[in-house]
Amino acid sequence: MECLSALKTRRCVRAYTGEPVSREVIEDIIDCGRLAATARNIQPWEFVVVTAPRTLRAIASETDFGSFIAQAAACIVVLCQDTKYYLEDGCNASQNILVAARAHGLGGCWVAGDKKPYAKKVRQMVGAPDGYKLISLLSIGHPAEEPEQEKRPLSEVLHWEKF
Ligand SMILES: Cc1cc2nc3c(=O)[nH]c(=O)nc-3n(C[C@H](O)[C@H](O)[C@H](O)COP(=O)(O)O)c2cc1C
Repeated sequence: MECLSALKTRRCVRAYTGEPVSREVIEDIIDCGRLAATARNIQPWEFVVVTAPRTLRAIASETDFGSFIAQAAACIVVLCQDTKYYLEDGCNASQNILVAARAHGLGGCWVAGDKKPYAKKVRQMVGAPDGYKLISLLSIGHPAEEPEQEKRPLSEVLHWEKF
């Protein structure tokens, strides 16, 4: 899929067919994450790919709005070292991953990490060292739905020269 098309048609997909996703594809979408823009090129991120059904279920049950992680083929746990711009950097990488997943014909959904009370527990579950922040939990799988979301029109959000 073309880059612009992947960007414009990406939507959060929360239902999956159960078909596995190859390691090669997972590696490619994480490759797109690690190439994201990052303040001072610090690249504070680490990506943990969880595919074990038991761990997927355990992570899902910790979240408040991420129960569908249990049915995903994988959950990419995005972590960042606690640097000045860790959140911007980690979000940037997360978005790249979701768009790359879409370009591969996969569906994914961002489940909140930073600021959530379950962040510490999830970090421990995946063995993240102290000093790392949980940015996002990205469920990935073959889509079993094509959700629509109402989006604010360009004419409403785009301001030339001044707000
Ligand atoms: C920071 C952030 C946190 C989010 N957390 C959740 C979440 O916990 N559970 C969930 O189902 N979706 C979550 N989402 C997905 C949003 O609900 C979704 O992006 C929004 O409704 C717009 O839909 P779209 O992504 O399909 O365009 C999150 C998205 C962002 C950017």
